[in-house]
Amino acid sequence: VIDIRKLYADMDVFTYDPGFTSTASCESTITFIDGDKGELLYRGYPIDQLAEKSHFLEVCYLLLFGELPNAAQLEDFENRVTRHTMLHEQMVYFFRGFRRDAHPMAVMCGVVGAMSAFYHDSTDITDPWQREVAQIRLIAKMPTIAAWAYKYSIGQPFIYPRNDLDYASNFLHMCFATPCEEYVVDPILARAMDRIMTLHADHEQNASTSTVRLAGSSHANPFACIAAGVASLWGPAHGGANQACLEMLREIGSPDRVDEYVKKAEDKNDSFRLMGFGHRVYKNYDPRAKVMQETAKEVLDLLGVKDNPILQTAQALEKRALEDEYFISKKLYPNVDFYSGIILEAMGFPTAMFTPIFALSRTVGWISQWKEMIEDPVQKIGRPRQLYTGAPMRDYIDIEKR
Ligand code: ACO
Repeated sequence: VIDIRKLYADMDVFTYDPGFTSTASCESTITFIDGDKGELLYRGYPIDQLAEKSHFLEVCYLLLFGELPNAAQLEDFENRVTRHTMLHEQMVYFFRGFRRDAHPMAVMCGVVGAMSAFYHDSTDITDPWQREVAQIRLIAKMPTIAAWAYKYSIGQPFIYPRNDLDYASNFLHMCFATPCEEYVVDPILARAMDRIMTLHADHEQNASTSTVRLAGSSHANPFACIAAGVASLWGPAHGGANQACLEMLREIGSPDRVDEYVKKAEDKNDSFRLMGFGHRVYKNYDPRAKVMQETAKEVLDLLGVKDNPILQTAQALEKRALEDEYFISKKLYPNVDFYSGIILEAMGFPTAMFTPIFALSRTVGWISQWKEMIEDPVQKIGRPRQLYTGAPMRDYIDIEKR
């Protein structure tokens, strides 16, 4: 009989760390987080400086290639991304196969995975040029996929990308224009969308990024790996939190019910949590939330939606939780999803689109991490161990004796 405890005891090193709270799964030069100080750096640059001075496609270049581009490099990169924004026309039929009421994340999981079939040339990961083409294709096509998932869900015709618009404006155009009516993108809204994308671009080894790395470690093609990331992001404890947060705000309904919900979140016998609060790594204010808070104010001022009960409830909840003893003692601050949901709601996006927007923003982070892993000469297949706590070895019992 195998002594399972002895088996573990005999190993030189064996760690058991559920949720990877203190175990690094890889080395990376892309993103640094100091959760206690509330700092986030992309390739060494603070997130607030990038949100203020840079823009999403420049940040994409930085994450992918490690340095800020010069003017010629940026122009070339922007041209390449812009030229790849269209989807293969046959993908229209793929979209049409989904139920009308499918969640756009379900559509994205399917369509992104299907890119392996439509762009078969760039599934050859041994070819560095094809790897780069796959990276560009993913960054370029994600907004089109997300916008089309939305258009399909509301029964409107697909709007094709416009190459004269910047990345964020083009996405808003594909979501809100119709063949009968042009959508003129307000620069404040385009800037807000660009910031949402920049702030969500990467966040080191979170659940979806780790999923992409683990899938990629077996040398699965990049489209399949990113589809796995989309699936992981969908959960309400991760990317689905912004949708869950808005749904919670709707349920609360008005500022006078905030107190009741804060008490519910504090109750040990109630599993309810305040969505949009808390973070595994940040035990201080999420630096992205600070930028988002300012952007939310700009958007609300522009759209004049200060009287919206959901937004009023959000403001009351933020104030109440920041002064609450339970939330202070457990270091639970509003996270980036709390504010991004408010902005997207004010822009007119349905809650079901919040997580797809997160997914299209995070695609560059996923693919940069995938690139880093594939280019690592000592890369190994990810194969976590387990602590077995099941039955010891025993003999099979014939069915008539059970
Ligand atoms: N509301 C009420 N209590 C909370 C909340 C919350 N939102 N978050 C954590 N807590 C409490 C827990 O009950 C726990 O209490 P205990 O010490 O008495 O057991 C304590 O704080 C620690 O919570 P953990 O779940 O152990 O913390 P962890 O780091 O594993 O979880 C997480 C982080 C999943 C984000 C959590 O805070 C949460 O569920 N938040 C709500 C969902 C959310 O907003 N997710 C978005 C994350 S950001 C992102 O993905 C971009």
